[in-house]
Amino acid sequence: MLGAVRAALVTACFVCMARPVAADDKVSFAMDLMPTLKARCAVCHMTGGEPGGMALTPDTAWSDLVGRDAMGLPSMKRVNPGEPQSSYLMHKLWGSHRTVGGNGSRMPLHQPPLTAALIADFEIWVLAGAPNN
Ligand code: HEC
Repeated sequence: MLGAVRAALVTACFVCMARPVAADDKVSFAMDLMPTLKARCAVCHMTGGEPGGMALTPDTAWSDLVGRDAMGLPSMKRVNPGEPQSSYLMHKLWGSHRTVGGNGSRMPLHQPPLTAALIADFEIWVLAGAPNN
């Protein structure tokens, strides 16, 4: 009995981690994404004067990302609301930026990539229109 419960829990957990990305999932920019931007990104993207040209700190992260031309690929927005495939931020997190004509490194630079679940949260947020929520 206990074994069956445990198996069901493990399955549920696996399913929740591997959930397909859907636009109606809710991700809050401030609550779900900002902690990662603060912990993993703002150390380098602090004032906007650094390479990459963005400040990923709480006051400026949203406005420096959403609807802004990417420096490394000016034909693409950093975040194009509703369109992860044409959002340079997503390609920098996936590591596919060079396949779309960008340059430089996968982000976060000199660190392990974000987990698949965290990257999926960014994607869900872009799909949902990249709200400042
Ligand atoms: C160790 C320093 C460092 C860290 C940490 C870092 N970055 Fe970067 N980032 C850079 C540098 C340097 C560039 C410019 C060169 C390049 O594009 O690779 C850059 C460029 C970028 C660009 C391209 C901007 C543009 O307009 O071309 C994005 C998007 C980006 N970073 C997002 C992030 C995110 C999101 C994180 C955290 C998950 C992060 N970075 C963490 C140093 C860093």
